[in-house]
Amino acid sequence: MPKVFPSGSIAEVPGRAPGDRPGYRWPRRGAPLGPFGPEEERVDRGRLVVASNRLPLALDRDAKGQWQVTPAAGGLVTALQPAMRRRGGVWLGWAGAPGVTATDLRQALEGCSTSSPCDLEPVKMSEEDLDLYYRGFSNEVLWPFFHGLEDHCRPSSGYLDRYRVVNRRFAKMIASTSGTEDFIWVHDYHLLLVARELRALGIRNRIAFFLHTPFPTPERLLRAPWHREILEALGHFDLIGFQSPDDQEKFRTAIDRLGPGKAPNRGSRTGVFPISIDFEAFDSTARSRSVAARAESVRSVAGSAALILGVDRLDYTKGLPHKLRGFRRALREHPELRRNIVLEQLVVPSRDTIGAYQDTKAEIEALVEAINEEWGSADWLPVRYHYGRWSRRELLARYRAADIALVTPLNDGMNLVAKEYCAANGGEGVLILSCHAGAAVELGDVPLLVDPTNEQAVSRAILAAFRMPYGERFKRMAAAREMLRAWDVHRWVAEFLEEGARTR
Ligand code: UDP
Ligand code: G6P
Repeated sequence: MPKVFPSGSIAEVPGRAPGDRPGYRWPRRGAPLGPFGPEEERVDRGRLVVASNRLPLALDRDAKGQWQVTPAAGGLVTALQPAMRRRGGVWLGWAGAPGVTATDLRQALEGCSTSSPCDLEPVKMSEEDLDLYYRGFSNEVLWPFFHGLEDHCRPSSGYLDRYRVVNRRFAKMIASTSGTEDFIWVHDYHLLLVARELRALGIRNRIAFFLHTPFPTPERLLRAPWHREILEALGHFDLIGFQSPDDQEKFRTAIDRLGPGKAPNRGSRTGVFPISIDFEAFDSTARSRSVAARAESVRSVAGSAALILGVDRLDYTKGLPHKLRGFRRALREHPELRRNIVLEQLVVPSRDTIGAYQDTKAEIEALVEAINEEWGSADWLPVRYHYGRWSRRELLARYRAADIALVTPLNDGMNLVAKEYCAANGGEGVLILSCHAGAAVELGDVPLLVDPTNEQAVSRAILAAFRMPYGERFKRMAAAREMLRAWDVHRWVAEFLEEGARTR
């Protein structure tokens, strides 16, 4: 790697020992709402039945009408997939295209090299379901609302009704798939009503929920017309898991404010379970010869410039325009960065039939063009923009090659890209991280924390990362890696299930 970083430019910040995170209450995370139940009833008597809107694989028809299988994008799938591969069980969800049946899925999997992590049960969706339940209530109401970005909410008639219908469909499929001993684990904002529907069908199993997004503030939530239905429905889960203590607190406050006697089922327990990654897999594959070779060639394209990496799903929550404006400001304000940094930004296509996502894409592309026009030259392109997807090997090579990762969401439940970078980079990279990402709570002062809406803060962080001496970079990265190695996704699942086994 080229040594483009002058040493001794900023003060050393000591890394923090793993587990020593002030204000963070784990390993015993989050006080439960209800009493502990009998220990002897364990989850592992039955199977694990997971339900999420999306399956880990997405099907699509090619020009000849044949099914193509691609891995689904997003943190939920990245995290759950290795865990399900290890534990087995069944996973229910949408297979990525309208109308996909179990037979379609079986045939598609027979004809391709992708292996499924466990049994997969596709939940059928029509075009109308996708329009009203997925694009509509889930992604034009709940997603922006839960991220505190209500300006992007576009409620419309028919959304909530179809959301109820699809949640009921999920419940019916779960009911017909589950044995009486199975542990049912429902994921994310698309499926908030599923436990209520399962109970209505007479299902007595333990049912748990994990919210991958942030939880909205009680003040805002209690003004939403659907708040009571959602909170009451959540009360039918035995265990509700959140990413951070703050999310858990907001939920508990919202429940309290519903008023005496009006709160949902007090038997529900809540807990804080910050989601993680398969550290070992990211770490070891990133060290492989083929990834190392690819990382070398990625690096050589940047020449002697420091490589800054951004990897984000197309989403207004990811703060991509803010990141680009911060990067532009860094070039304007700090001449030493000119020609000495390159931002390699991958934007992964997502929800691109929604207006707000199309607007965000247009804004990002206009900014990339403007920055490259303002600063680029024949032999230096400041921003290398990619709209698409990278294979796991390519992603790991980019993580490994990058001197700096720039992760600046406006609000994010966790942000696994931040964790993956630390696992795969191997020790010399600097993570610049939004203080509004769940990962910031866990990583503490290991990354350079920034407020993504403050252009100058982003610009300064880029300069600080660029100048950071090797010793300090190693120290910070080592602390992050130690924490991630100890708190990987397998431990996350084990802790969640252990807590789930204590309910009732
Ligand atoms: N990712 C992917 N394909 C790519 C690039 C990234 O599947 O081409 C994955 C990445 O490895 C990460 C996930 O997408 O696990 C993004 O998760 P994150 O928690 O950062 O954000 P989310 O997209 O879930 O909001
Ligand atoms: C976030 C959500 C997931 C979702 C993913 C990808 O991570 O928390 O539930 O699967 O984004 O979004 P998509 O709409 O493509 O499933």
